[in-house]
Amino acid sequence: MSQQRKPGRFSGKRIAVIGAGSVGPGWGNGKAAAVLYAREGGQVLVVDQNEVAALETENLIRSEGGSANNFVGDMTDANAAKAAIAAALTAFGGLDVLHFNVGISTRGGIADTSFEDWRRVFSINLDAAFHVTQAALPELERGTGSSIVYITTLAAELNGPYPYVGYESSKAALCRLSRSVAADYAARGVRSNTVVPGMIDTPHVHAHVASSTNQQAVADTRAAQVPMKRQGTGWDVAEAALFLASDAAGFITGVDLRVDGGMSILMGNAAI
Ligand SMILES: NC(=O)c1ccc[n+]([C@@H]2O[C@H](COP(=O)([O-])OP(=O)(O)OC[C@H]3O[C@@H](n4cnc5c(N)ncnc54)[C@H](O)[C@@H]3O)[C@@H](O)[C@H]2O)c1
Repeated sequence: MSQQRKPGRFSGKRIAVIGAGSVGPGWGNGKAAAVLYAREGGQVLVVDQNEVAALETENLIRSEGGSANNFVGDMTDANAAKAAIAAALTAFGGLDVLHFNVGISTRGGIADTSFEDWRRVFSINLDAAFHVTQAALPELERGTGSSIVYITTLAAELNGPYPYVGYESSKAALCRLSRSVAADYAARGVRSNTVVPGMIDTPHVHAHVASSTNQQAVADTRAAQVPMKRQGTGWDVAEAALFLASDAAGFITGVDLRVDGGMSILMGNAAI
């Protein structure tokens, strides 16, 4: 029997995954997406500010026989964002998919969030998206079947018991940015959509609850709130993103696709 790989959905596609590393061991949303694009035949530029994390994802893809390069830089810096897109052009000769995954949160409501924290969250969650999108669009427009996917959060839509005013507000703005781009570029060959994850079991969340004495209890509490009675995984988020980025979603633009195990049906009881 032939051991040759079948051509995948992303065969011939050039993809930049922004925030393709992971803050810890295991499968984060960005790392899973980068690996999945490569498994589906895509050429992947792994972009991350953390060199170790970037190299880990790049090497993982290469060890599976996939195609990957890396770019290390902080995407809140407009020049670094331009350089990242330029690196994709140098490596692959073009760009077909921009996948924006970076995002941070700091807990706090309007009364107890410092302006520094507010600005930091907006800088990473929204300004970085602005910079890479602006740098990528001329290249995406040159191609056919080009697409952008932004990873947002259910917290952009629904309130939980803990306030995250900067996170919620910046991610809501990111959803709106996606729809603005979708409207501007609908007739210019570039689609733009978001994936809206709910409770996802990732190293990012493990790091977030690391100070907790009982991580298992936190995980159980999160899972119990989901109608499907489990947290999602980085793969659940990646699979939805790949669908939106693929030609199979060629008539879909400007949507926010929830990947939340039915969480949004409950309207506002989330402990995100
Ligand atoms: N895990 C969940 O429950 C959950 C739920 C909803 C949404 N999300 C979203 O998923 C995304 C994070 O997913 P993940 O699991 O891949 O997280 P992660 O934190 O493990 O990985 C994100 C990567 O982005 C990199 N990064 C951060 N800031 C950067 C910058 N300025 N420039 C370049 N790289 C930068 C980090 O170094 C890291 O490697 C976020 O957008 C988050 O809002 C997660």
